[in-house]
Amino acid sequence: MTMQDNKTWSGRFAEPVAELVKRYTASVEFDKRLAPFDIQASLAHAQMLEACGIITMQDLIDIRRGMTQIEHEIFNDKFAWSFDLEDVHLNIEKRLTTLVGDAGKRLHTGRSRNDQVATDVRLYLRHAIDELHELMRSLQSAIIDLAIQHTHTIMPGYTHLQVAQPVSFAHHLMAYFEMLKRDADRIIDCRKRVNRLPLGAAALAGTSYPIKREMVAELLGFDGVCENSLDAVSDRDFAIEFIACAALTMTHLSRLSEELILWMNPRFGFIDIADRFCTGSSIMPQKKNPDVPELVRGKTGRVNGNLVTLLTLMKGQPLAYNKDNQEDKEPLFDTVDTLTNTLRIYADMVGGITVKPAAMRDAALQGYATATDLADYLVKKGLPFRDAHEAVALAVRFAEQRNCDLSELKLEELQQFSSLIADDIYSVLTLEGSLASRNHIGGTAPQQVETAIAQARKHLAGQN
Ligand code: ARG
Repeated sequence: MTMQDNKTWSGRFAEPVAELVKRYTASVEFDKRLAPFDIQASLAHAQMLEACGIITMQDLIDIRRGMTQIEHEIFNDKFAWSFDLEDVHLNIEKRLTTLVGDAGKRLHTGRSRNDQVATDVRLYLRHAIDELHELMRSLQSAIIDLAIQHTHTIMPGYTHLQVAQPVSFAHHLMAYFEMLKRDADRIIDCRKRVNRLPLGAAALAGTSYPIKREMVAELLGFDGVCENSLDAVSDRDFAIEFIACAALTMTHLSRLSEELILWMNPRFGFIDIADRFCTGSSIMPQKKNPDVPELVRGKTGRVNGNLVTLLTLMKGQPLAYNKDNQEDKEPLFDTVDTLTNTLRIYADMVGGITVKPAAMRDAALQGYATATDLADYLVKKGLPFRDAHEAVALAVRFAEQRNCDLSELKLEELQQFSSLIADDIYSVLTLEGSLASRNHIGGTAPQQVETAIAQARKHLAGQN
């Protein structure tokens, strides 16, 4: 093959391949959402460069003027994003240079896209965490508002999805409040590790310019700088940790969704979800489907998937920065979007739940939910627990054969199973008696749940 042949061949082939490679390697289509943070970080960097005598005051003034214009263009959708310029950083820098000339070219002094992108992602995520934390609190607040109305609404508590013991609907709801409280704590803890400044690490080894990293950190509201330049540009564990937090929150909401779906089924009939969160069927006119909870359950899968994506992305990377890291953004953005939308819709949906206390009560009465109370009664009268358990099991079988509840058996009938049973048993066998007796921290007694709700409100108000 002659040179000419090769050239002809490459001449025919290189253009489309180059275009494909360009598209393959470009990230601007998705990383342009980092633009506001990229600009914010660049302005802080430029201010530090000027303070350290690395660029002039005139350069800084020009950079600021150019960035103001760029922000305006982006905000008004007038900015011409270009694939040829690969990513958000090069697009903005190129435009800055077009607008202000040499000052734009000086902006990149003492930094690299490696520490730049790591900084942008951290700024983005910090902002997202603050918003998500607020949304979590709104949902917690919606849960409390519903719970406070139902401290005396009795439903069956389940284990193995079989009727276990009566609980109040409020108590059940407050279990989700607790989960969300941990989620909110977790995300704020994660924020501490997100909120560190990579800039100054440059490509990987630091820079020979006399920079002041602490100044940039302070300008950008970071708690401090990343302590090792190699780690600063290559670490994405803060993003993985965030997605793990998000996956847990989604998992909690997926469990609640599963319950809402079951409770809306007529066999339970415990609740109804407002029409605006449901859809009908194109073929079955009677249908009202709980689409929103179903989708929350489904979308939990994608957030869990995003977590695995980022873990897998990192596991084989040698230090320091590798282009693999460009792939961190879509799963991260998708996680933020999914969790944001889910929390937003959930707070509204919880507020639109219609509770059907009669159906809950009927279900609790059907499953011998107070059997444990009968056993505990016998234990308090001196019978060893295992013997009490056996006596009650026989009593339940007896009641089952008569198709009635334990509380509907006559005293003589109950006494066949233990002579310790007296007529004070009936207060124990009622649902209300059962609830009231679990009167300790964390128990389902209305008094305890009311206290828990009051504490929860205080917590949300920042008072404990
Ligand atoms: N778009 C890149 C990313 O998201 C920016 C960093 C590129 N650095 C490089 N040396 N190619 O990671």
